[in-house]
Amino acid sequence: MVHRALRLAAPAVVALLAVTTACTGTTVQGRPGASGLRDPFFPKAGNGGYDVRHYGLDLTYEPDTGRLSGTAVLTATATQGLSSFNLDLDGLDVQGVTVQGAGARFNRTGHELTIRPAGELEKGEEFRAEVRYAGRPRTVEDGDGSEEGWIRTDDGAVGVGEPVGSMAWFPGNHHPSDKATYDITLRVPQGYEAVSNGELRSRADDGQGRTVFAWHAAEPMASYLATAAIGRYKISTTRSPGGVPVLNAVVPEEAAGSAPALERLPEVVDWGSRLFGPYPFASAGAIVERSGTLGYALETQTRPVYSGAPEVELVVHETAHQWFGDSVSPASWKDMWLNEGFATYAEWLWSEQHGGVRAQERFEAFLDGDTDVDPSALEDWAAFPPAVPPGPARISDAPVYYRGAMVLHRIRQEAGDEAFFDLVRGWAAERRHGNATTADFTAYAEERTGQDLDEVWDVWLYGQDRPKAPRR
Ligand code: ARG
Ligand code: ZN
Repeated sequence: MVHRALRLAAPAVVALLAVTTACTGTTVQGRPGASGLRDPFFPKAGNGGYDVRHYGLDLTYEPDTGRLSGTAVLTATATQGLSSFNLDLDGLDVQGVTVQGAGARFNRTGHELTIRPAGELEKGEEFRAEVRYAGRPRTVEDGDGSEEGWIRTDDGAVGVGEPVGSMAWFPGNHHPSDKATYDITLRVPQGYEAVSNGELRSRADDGQGRTVFAWHAAEPMASYLATAAIGRYKISTTRSPGGVPVLNAVVPEEAAGSAPALERLPEVVDWGSRLFGPYPFASAGAIVERSGTLGYALETQTRPVYSGAPEVELVVHETAHQWFGDSVSPASWKDMWLNEGFATYAEWLWSEQHGGVRAQERFEAFLDGDTDVDPSALEDWAAFPPAVPPGPARISDAPVYYRGAMVLHRIRQEAGDEAFFDLVRGWAAERRHGNATTADFTAYAEERTGQDLDEVWDVWLYGQDRPKAPRR
């Protein structure tokens, strides 16, 4: 009996003490930050309790052994009192962690790296966490069988991270809702190039056989859009007629094949700026790997990665993502159609504005399965509604792309060209360098166009049935 009473009393005393300290205005006890942001598809991606403002990565890579080593310095703000907080890191060895310059205890379970600072962090406090780590970063297999994370190539490697592969090469708050600026410094053996997001601030010899490339991404970036590409690329730079600096890195084998599409990249950037509003970043470009390196291209910020020489339509797609996906990022991985629907529709717009198939014809081709107009028209575009993918393995499936584009075309049919293009530009401006949910978009679309678009949402965006041709 006595024993039992004591056990009950202990927590009560602790609670009483906490209340007392809270009332007297002294430090409120911090608590652990959440180990995930409860994304509907990737609940453990990202972490709660803090907001990263900046990542400083300083990484050395050995192409011969595949070993990566260095430090990640995160500058973040605590959004609650924190006794501990998590970063996401998949694989690799953590050699040491400091918070505010003082050694911090840490432990690892799965991809959660839990850090316990020597002193608690207060709500609103800005702090600096430094993680020293090394190892051979892993390639991550996605639910749909494609590869991301760290991919070794014939002469180097490339880091890509949609949706969750970036945690394979640097620790962080790996969810698109926490965007931050980046400085990515890459140290590689002489003779190699190392390319990343943003602008090259410096390129120097370290006096010990390595070249040090310092890249700076000044605008907020979701971590899945970060890249590091190491190899023997041919580097070329130019500027779009509208003034956007362009830097391309192309493996020698793909140089000739890439030239026709990459020569048009400056024009594509300026075309997008006219249609979608000012280009959101300080530079543009491309990284072209050997064909077969990845089964897809990725819209890594300012500098998409291509797997083999791209066609101009693919360059249009990845460039359109700079507005839709990179500048306006999804609030969760369920909102992926906001990325892919827009990027696909941008291809349709490019085509109709450059003497090709009109968007209306392409829309009809999907309804009719007419592969003469679009070879993708036979893909299972109606398998599920774009705003409701059946699971994390399906976020890159055909409906997210093609039916997503058809949703946008339906808005255009209802609102007319003038209101539709005003909406597209307005949306890119409204959420520039931010995040958005599907509900944010549908509310904005109705408000901006002044149209009741319920039928478009109910049938095309959320409806389980295969939509029929609209009566016009
Ligand atoms: N977002 C990329 C694009 O369409 C495609 C990524 C595909 N990833 C995947 N796991 N299937 O531009
Ligand atoms: Zn895409």
